[in-house]
Amino acid sequence: MISKCLDINSENHLTIGGMDVCTLAEKYGTPLYIMDENLIRENLATYRDSLNKFYNGNGMVLYASKAFSCKHIYKVCKEENTGIDVVSGGELYTALKADFPAEKIYFHGNNKTNDEIKFAVENNVGRIVADNLEELERINKIAGSLGKKVSVLFRIKPGIDAHTHQFIMTGQIDSKFGFALETGEAMTAIKSALSCENLEVTGIHCHIGSQIFDLEPFKEAAKVMFGFVKQIKDELNVEIKELNLGGGFGIKYLESDDPIEYSKYIEAVSEVIHEVCEKEGINPPKILMEPGRSIVGEAGITVYTVGSVKDIPNVRKYVSIDGGMTDNPRFILYQSEYSALVANRADAKPSEKVTIAGKCCESGDLIAKDIMMPEIKSGDYLAVMSTGAYNYSMSSNYNRTPKPPVVMVKNGVDTVVVKRETYEDLIRNDL
Ligand code: LLP
Repeated sequence: MISKCLDINSENHLTIGGMDVCTLAEKYGTPLYIMDENLIRENLATYRDSLNKFYNGNGMVLYASKAFSCKHIYKVCKEENTGIDVVSGGELYTALKADFPAEKIYFHGNNKTNDEIKFAVENNVGRIVADNLEELERINKIAGSLGKKVSVLFRIKPGIDAHTHQFIMTGQIDSKFGFALETGEAMTAIKSALSCENLEVTGIHCHIGSQIFDLEPFKEAAKVMFGFVKQIKDELNVEIKELNLGGGFGIKYLESDDPIEYSKYIEAVSEVIHEVCEKEGINPPKILMEPGRSIVGEAGITVYTVGSVKDIPNVRKYVSIDGGMTDNPRFILYQSEYSALVANRADAKPSEKVTIAGKCCESGDLIAKDIMMPEIKSGDYLAVMSTGAYNYSMSSNYNRTPKPPVVMVKNGVDTVVVKRETYEDLIRNDL
């Protein structure tokens, strides 16, 4: 099985967290997102405990909530005693409404609006991660006008591009995010913040990419970031108290994917960090990590009902489902690959090549192209796996399609944490 929360029961139905997926599909209708809360908690705990262990209590995991954001997930993070990363006023609002402690919120974004900054400062968000000089000035000004001091981190481009499987070191990276190191822009930003009376220079941050399986780029990023920590200490006599190494750890979408155990990754990076600190005589800063996909991705599936099956001889067999790019835009955006199962005949062996198509008026609206599946009939339940990250959070109402609900399963209990949208919801803002 692609995820350890999935299994097959005696009726030959797919189960998630021990619960029958077909029964849940009958109960809630399709399309339906189902997530296993125990696996989410286990993943959060792995990061939290490994960071504690390998950094002697001086580490913290921040769940990158862009992967999946709703009130319930912030409550889970609060209970698991983690921090969170938010990247918009909307994510921040949701977290605050879920009573998530503001001091453990890190606010990111390459173009935060004044309203968003004001909202964050008014609510005493723990850290703002500054992206550029102009923004730094605005944060200082807004903090001053509210009579507050804001603790800032600086988003740094470490010059490592890990978006492909093969990571490459580049000189000047082309990215809309953060301050460049090699041009001196990052150092200028730190100096400028030191002279701002409403800002406190707390740390630096980097994020090198997503769905990465390789350890080396992470180690390399840690080294580059420590080079900068040392430079700041040497040139400005300022100690960096927090180093945030971002997220990006890969998960299993296909049988062939082979992610690194997260604790192993944390251990490997911690060795690099301890070594550098000792060699350079640096007091180890607090180490933060921001996993998103690896917390929720494998914990989620999407269940659809199969509608028409269209076999175009010598061309392609299309299996149409009652969802598509509106609930999972990752194929149309990135040609992402997924594994799927017929949930009501879960151990049936693959026997034919099919393309799973969504119901939008858009030829590219596919979920998977030319994948091997067992014979699929109209009325079957199709489960697409590893959809817990960047599916619900990237869903849309294209073609006025209501968003599916999210059901969380935990210890044999199923709970709706996001309701299914209704047609009435769709016209809520129409005048
Ligand atoms: N921290 C920062 C600053 C980020 O920009 C991101 C993701 C993360 C943490 C979490 O990365 P993760 O652990 O989830 O890889 N929509 C794309 C993924 C975009 C990721 C953007 N930033 C997808 O569906 O693959």
